[in-house]
Amino acid sequence: MTTPGLTFDLKPSAQPLTPAEREAALADPGFGRYFTDHMVTIRWTEGRGWHDAQLEPYAPLQMDPATMALHYGQEIFEGLKAYRQPDGSVATFRPETNAERFQRSAKRLGMPELPTELFVEAIDVLVAQDRDWVPAGGEQSLYLRPFMIATEVGLGINRPANEYLFMVIASPAGAYFPRGVKPVSVWLSQEYVRAAPGGTGEAKCAGNYAASFLAQAEAVRQGCDQVVWLDAVERRWIEEMGGMNLYFVQGTGADARIVTPALTGTLLPGVTRDSLLRIAADLGYATGETRISTDDWRAGCADGTISEVFACGTAAVITPVGSVKSAEGDWTVADGESGEITMRLRQTLVGIQTGRIEDRHGWLHHIG
Ligand code: COI
Repeated sequence: MTTPGLTFDLKPSAQPLTPAEREAALADPGFGRYFTDHMVTIRWTEGRGWHDAQLEPYAPLQMDPATMALHYGQEIFEGLKAYRQPDGSVATFRPETNAERFQRSAKRLGMPELPTELFVEAIDVLVAQDRDWVPAGGEQSLYLRPFMIATEVGLGINRPANEYLFMVIASPAGAYFPRGVKPVSVWLSQEYVRAAPGGTGEAKCAGNYAASFLAQAEAVRQGCDQVVWLDAVERRWIEEMGGMNLYFVQGTGADARIVTPALTGTLLPGVTRDSLLRIAADLGYATGETRISTDDWRAGCADGTISEVFACGTAAVITPVGSVKSAEGDWTVADGESGEITMRLRQTLVGIQTGRIEDRHGWLHHIG
């Protein structure tokens, strides 16, 4: 397997898990608890560029305590999934789109940009090696986690690091939320913000998630499942839910309009978000990218014009939002249950991903 100038050195594990051990992990994988037998690593050094691409046994990393990623947080990551297809083959979903976002994240964090072909090939190499780890059951999948860290050793901060490690690891995935596809309750965070204009909100970098945990803990303290982020300036425009994008359904039935907060630079441009905009249009719904305030949300639920709300992301796919709590009051979205259009979009997306619904957009990347 080659990418111009770079060949993957394949070093398969001499001690992979036995089929019985692997099946035990696949029986109830949860999310992010088990890892496959292998990982991919590629190094980047200033002056030399990308080099030393390897498939090797999954193993801990050894790092100097002064490794820059550990101090200044130059870390970016991606999330995508491989799905077992009806004929037993395996395909990933829109890996090039993740590759492009990874490049934008790298740019924002002052890190080198991994070419799309190399990003996709790194995933192909890992999935091909660990293909027996791709579950076949229902909505299960193999979650892929490409990421990159600064590996230069030193504590100076006058410039980005001059050495990086790109890796891909893989983890079998069942339901992301332990309760499955059940409506979640959300807390509108007016105290903490996720991203400010000019910041790193549209990059998928570790720091955005590190900064989210306190607000998520506050949401739980308020009796809610998830935090909803508002814009940093006015604290009234809806941005995201936890690590997921949000969607609002206005109206019902065939006349429904499906809208999502516009990408202002402070939101993560989700691949699932983008896919749903297109699927909703394919299903004949009007769609829009717009601004939605907390007042719009509350008033729309009070007068019934907002009929459904859901969050979307690679990990959980689509999660209905049933109720909202905020410093200014609480309200329910319709009857608080999973909406019809929410579930229709979910089934369509998962159907495409698992090869049971026609892939009109050429989104599946077949690995074999
Ligand atoms: C996703 O929805 O896929 C996410 O980004 C969550 C992930 C960080 C676990």
